[in-house]
This record gives sequence, C-alpha cells and structure tokens, in this order.
Amino acid sequence: MPLASESIGAVQSVRTPSSWRDRLIAIRDRLLASHAFQRFAARFPLTRPIARRKAKTLFDLCTGFVHSQVLLACVQLKLFEHLQDAPATIDDLTERLDLPRASTERLLQAACSLGLLSRRGGGRFGLGELGAAFLGNPGLDAMVEHHAHFYKDLQDPVALLRGEQSETALSRYWPYSGTDNKADFNDEAVADYSHLMAATQPMIASHILDAYPVRNHSCLMDIGGGEGAFLEAVAARAPDLNLRLFDLPIVVERAKRRFDMNGLAHRLVVDGGDFYKDPIPTGADLISLVRIVHDHDDDEALHLLKAVRAALPPGGVLLLAEPMAETPGAEAMGAAYFGFYFLAMGRGRARRVDELLAMLRSAGFASAEPLPTQIPLLVSVIKATVN
Ligand SMILES: C[S@@+](CC[C@H](N)C(=O)[O-])C[C@H]1O[C@@H](n2cnc3c(N)ncnc32)[C@H](O)[C@@H]1O
Repeated sequence: MPLASESIGAVQSVRTPSSWRDRLIAIRDRLLASHAFQRFAARFPLTRPIARRKAKTLFDLCTGFVHSQVLLACVQLKLFEHLQDAPATIDDLTERLDLPRASTERLLQAACSLGLLSRRGGGRFGLGELGAAFLGNPGLDAMVEHHAHFYKDLQDPVALLRGEQSETALSRYWPYSGTDNKADFNDEAVADYSHLMAATQPMIASHILDAYPVRNHSCLMDIGGGEGAFLEAVAARAPDLNLRLFDLPIVVERAKRRFDMNGLAHRLVVDGGDFYKDPIPTGADLISLVRIVHDHDDDEALHLLKAVRAALPPGGVLLLAEPMAETPGAEAMGAAYFGFYFLAMGRGRARRVDELLAMLRSAGFASAEPLPTQIPLLVSVIKATVN
C-alpha cells in the first residue's frame, strides 16, 4: 500500500539523523544520558565544574515550583518589609510573622538559600541581594500573589495542553479574554487585574519612556490604558502633552478616579469602549499599546492594529510595548512563562519582533522598527509610523 509505506518512510526520515550536526548531537545526548559518563564527568577535575553546574540547572528546574512558593510565603508574610530597615533575630521575626519558631527558622533558611535573605552577625537575618531588589520593584508582590491563579491551572499541565480544563482560573481573572459582553462588566470583575496592571506598570513605564521621546508629540492616546498608571508616568515626563485613555467603560471610571485623586484630572480625557466593536477616537498623533497586543489572537490583534492605523493622522506614530518572544537572554520568559500563561488565559501569545513588524506592515503602517530598551526581559518597544 503506497500510502502506508510513504507515511512509514516519512516517520523514518524524521527519526534518522539527517546531517552531521544531528549525528554529533545524538552522540552527545547518548553520552549525557549515560550513567557511566555522568560519573566520569563528576570525577574528572576538568569536567567536574560543568557537571555540577548542569546538575544544579536540572535540579533547579525540578524544584523551581518550591522556590516560587517560598517566595510567595515571603510576600504573603511581608518578610522583606519587616527587614527593610534593619536585620532581625529569629525570635523577633517569630513574633512579627506569627509563625511557630521552627517554621520561622525553616522559612528564613529557605529564603537565605535562594538569595532572598542573608545571615548577619549575632544570629540575625537581613535582606539578601534578591530580597532587596524585590523591594525595589513595587508591583512584583502583586505579580507573585496573582500567580496563585496560574498555579492552579498548572497543576495538571498535560490537561492544560490538551484543553481539558473546562474553565481556567486565569480566564476568570482576565474576564475580557473569554467573553464578547465586555460592556457588561462591573467594577468587581475588572478590579483585580486593573490593580495588578497599575501596580506593575512602574517596572516598565520608565523603560518605554526612555526608549522614545513622547514629548515631541501633542497628544498621546493609551489604548487599553487600564487605570492610567502608564499615562501618570507620561504626565511627569511630558508636562505639555495632552493625554487620552481608551479602555472598557468600567475601567476608564477607575482611571478617572485615579487621576482625580492624584490631582491630574485636568490632563486626562477618557473614552470608554470596546476596541473590537467601537471606533478608536481620532485626534492623537501618538498612540500606545502597552501589554495589549499579546493578549489577543492573531486575527483580533491585526484588527486592532488596523483600527489604530486608521485613527492616526499623517505623521502619526504607534508605540507597541510588551515582552516579546525569543528575546535574547529571556527565551524562557517568552516560550515557557508566557507560552503557558496565555494558554491558561485562553487566548493571546507572546510574538517575536519580526512577527510584530510583519503584522504592522499588514495593518498599513509604512515603517516599523524596534527601539532598544534597557531590560528587554521586562519590555521591548516597536515604533511604527503612518508614513
Ligand atoms: C493586560 S491589561 C494592560 C493594561 C495597561 N496597558 C498596562 O500595561 O498596565 C489589558 C487592558 O486592555 C483592556 N481591554 C481588553 N480588551 C479590551 C477591549 N476589547 N476594548 C477595550 N479595552 C480592552 C483591559 O481592560 C485592560 O485594561
């Protein structure tokens, strides 16, 4: 039967190493999988450091979920805040954390081993380099806490991959990812994700604003701008820039309240709507999409980019800012973290720079180019121009 033999042939050709590179890699893989070679590499002085490093990487992968939960315990107990001003003893922390003494000791030891805390003289514990950096990034605590939802969805990763979970925790957390009736949301439905986005915005806003001088424009409209945390950072950088925010009607109410509270209400015009159903208002010569495009599947994302292109005047600019896939040095962030995150959320994907550039061209932008950012793991930026 020709069909059967063709398909068997196809399978064989996939399995048979087809190039020198494949053959060399196959030899390497056989060596690495061999217990005898592993024992040799661990004993031989020249390979021992490599063997130890690889063993650590592999075991960090196996145990990483525990490390994340140790961090969650530190966040929930506000351990870093307790040590912000001065190191403390176990007894002191036992009282402040309201834990049994043995549990305090266990947590402190775990946090030290992960670089979150460090041992100080006199049996005291203080911040470690990572704990101090964590405190310096307000919003990371909100991010770690919201991972409790993601963690539930990851309990059975194969079921997640097979699409066997009827409703995921992350799709409930981001209700706009799964419904067409976004106009019906009440404040409770959007409060948690809006708070998370506002809390984590300071980690990225300055990188975006360092990458592109927004003050050369007259009006910036932030689409999907949430509570307005990005525009708040813009307001400080560009005192003469007019600011507009487009988001779901219930979300722009939150932005209005925020700008009222911080005395910036006179700087902001809000437009409530659904960017799939309602036209995007015209009038801005600069539009930003910050952490928006990756939330959506390809057809929807292209629709949005076309609508943005149509709303911009000649000479107008779009800034597209979000973490992107295959960012050198941050490959696991795009492929592993966001790969599974968007799967659990129910839509969207992290895209490579070249994929976004192609989408922007399809959407009608005359040119598009990536702009360098300081920490691309957190955010990359593309500038697209109308002509
Ligand atoms: C991931 S959040 C990003 C918020 C903000 N840009 C930031 O980076 O902090 C996505 C935002 O898009 C808004 N959004 C989602 N779908 C929308 C739609 N169809 N129309 C208008 N806004 C939408 C959400 O309400 C939310 O504020």
